[in-house]
Amino acid sequence: MSRKRPMSDDKAAARRARRAAGSSGVLLRWLWQGYLHKHLWMLLAALFFMALEGAVLGVLSWIMQPMFDQIFMAGNRDALWWVGAVIMVIFTLRAVATVAQRVLLSVIAQRTAADLRRGLLSHLMQLDGTFHQTHPPGYLVQRLQSDVKAVNQVWNALITGAGRDVISLVILMGVALSIDWAWTLVACIGIPLMILPAFVLQKFVRRRAREARDLGAQLATRLDEVFHGIVPVKLNRLEGYQSRRFSDLTDHLIRAEVRAKLGAAALPGMIDLMSGLGFLGVLVFGGSQIIEGTKTVGEFMSFFTAIGLAFNPLRRLGAVSGVWQTAAAAIERIKDLFETRPTLTSPSQPHAAPRGTPEVRLAGVTLSYGDTRVLNGADLTAAAGRTTALVGPSGAGKSTVFNLLTRLVDPQDGAVEIGGVRVRDMSLTELRGLFSVVSQDALLFDDSLRENILLGRTDVSDAELETVLDAAHVTDFLPALSNGLDTQVGPRGSNLSGGQRQRVAIARALLRDTPVLLLDEATSALDAESEQVVQAALDRLSQGRTTLVIAHRLSTVRNADKIVVMDKGRVIDEGTHDQLVARDGVYARLYRLQFKSDGPTADSRALARMDSLHPDTAPGSTGYEDPAETSLLQRISQRLFGR
Ligand SMILES: Nc1ncnc2c1ncn2[C@@H]1O[C@H](COP(=O)(O)OP(=O)(O)O)[C@@H](O)[C@H]1O
Ligand SMILES: [Mg+2]
Repeated sequence: MSRKRPMSDDKAAARRARRAAGSSGVLLRWLWQGYLHKHLWMLLAALFFMALEGAVLGVLSWIMQPMFDQIFMAGNRDALWWVGAVIMVIFTLRAVATVAQRVLLSVIAQRTAADLRRGLLSHLMQLDGTFHQTHPPGYLVQRLQSDVKAVNQVWNALITGAGRDVISLVILMGVALSIDWAWTLVACIGIPLMILPAFVLQKFVRRRAREARDLGAQLATRLDEVFHGIVPVKLNRLEGYQSRRFSDLTDHLIRAEVRAKLGAAALPGMIDLMSGLGFLGVLVFGGSQIIEGTKTVGEFMSFFTAIGLAFNPLRRLGAVSGVWQTAAAAIERIKDLFETRPTLTSPSQPHAAPRGTPEVRLAGVTLSYGDTRVLNGADLTAAAGRTTALVGPSGAGKSTVFNLLTRLVDPQDGAVEIGGVRVRDMSLTELRGLFSVVSQDALLFDDSLRENILLGRTDVSDAELETVLDAAHVTDFLPALSNGLDTQVGPRGSNLSGGQRQRVAIARALLRDTPVLLLDEATSALDAESEQVVQAALDRLSQGRTTLVIAHRLSTVRNADKIVVMDKGRVIDEGTHDQLVARDGVYARLYRLQFKSDGPTADSRALARMDSLHPDTAPGSTGYEDPAETSLLQRISQRLFGR
């Protein structure tokens, strides 16, 4: 199995691809078209309030001139009132504008994030099994949570920057220019010095931000593994090991985050330096003009206020590119996920699913995972309404047959048909609607028992539910639960026993009432007593349905209408229990072996037969030596039945 981690993918190739797909223009356009443009009106309103907020700053700097020249210098009492009133209006407008634009932006940001999350989740659920095998849950959770949150930062930075800060900057510069263009030029002497360093810093920030995102995803994966595997972690005393791996990753993450922050903070820092230079220039140049008497103090104060107020917007704009680079690293990733296409999709013109209880057929099916051949020309037919059992050693390809039927994977060659219709000609929803699958461990959700059985269905009457609960033997254990059907089952159903979980799965299957039933080791993990109850429920469930059952224990399969023996991706024998026993082949020997009702000679024969089946096995002993024989028997049993 080639279990690749997405973060350890060929890094150079990934980077090259990203450079092409990740240019800021492409990312912004993607975000705009998919998510933002629907909020156009709210965005315009927010921009209006930002512009207002920016504009009042210009008025504030402009009012400095009459304030100094008419009130403080000329001592004009009338001016005191109107200047005061203008200042009051300025601050009131500013307050209203600030509140309005913050609320608007937050609404847009939240809705966009929710949209992205919803869209991403339904997209991810469509992707193939192979995608999910290479992208651990923690990684995907991180994409959905943190990366989407990072996209939100674009709002605070880009929109606020573009709206309020650019507008206030333009107006303030206008005021400054109207007072004295020469002073304005002097104030800007530092700007050309910034261009190159700013460019280099941007690249640096983007790289570090990407690294931090990768590490964040790895961290989430670790956590997911730890919490999902908390019992094995405890039993194997892996707490120290896991903590160490976690701290190593955290240390890396801290380094990457701090570097990204440093880069992002350096830009506004440089603007400070630049402003200092401009400040000094204006003081020397303008100050001497005031001393000479060619300029008034009011003009100087007005200019100074304008430049001073321009300071903050300028610094924030300097930081915008850093923030954008961080957000871009997140948007890039989300976009990549969206652009991963599922290969197992419904055909454009699906064939209707078969009606009634269908026959299930595989003909000459080959399937490989990479270089590993898993099915090698497998042929099998499961008759309509009958029970067909699949037996064979672990790794023979039994579960793969189920995956082919439900189209979790497509074969490279051969036909997979249900009721004469090829599975890839049906729509996925219709196809999967044909099956109920009960496997070794039922997937329960952290919800009430009732919800776990109904799974969102509201059309089930109480009487119907009652019947299903009885048939699935759920009623047997209900009295033992504190709240009956409303008992919370805990994460992954951990408050229930294995047998109880299986019975919940059977109740679900009964409610689904599908024509085909797939049972993959449904009773294998259970103790003898629960096995009996679950088996009874399963027998009830399989009535009138085309049932395929995979089981280790031959006691489970002996009543099947047909038994198919698989090995190494092929069907090597089939028939009823009696036929197979009479034929005295592999199945017969295994059957006797499991029931230990057979003599030593037959065991040796079974062994010889096994050796021809698996030439890599060392030839067995010829005579009957008790201890050695017993261990060999175990080996055979393991080979054929995986235990
Ligand atoms: N997603 C996968 N990627 C690679 N190999 C796989 C995958 N799923 C199953 N296999 C391999 O296919 C073989 C058959 O698996 P499976 O059908 O589960 O066997 P079993 O008969 O025990 O149910 C095994 O060798 C297994 O390692
Ligand atoms: Mg299996």
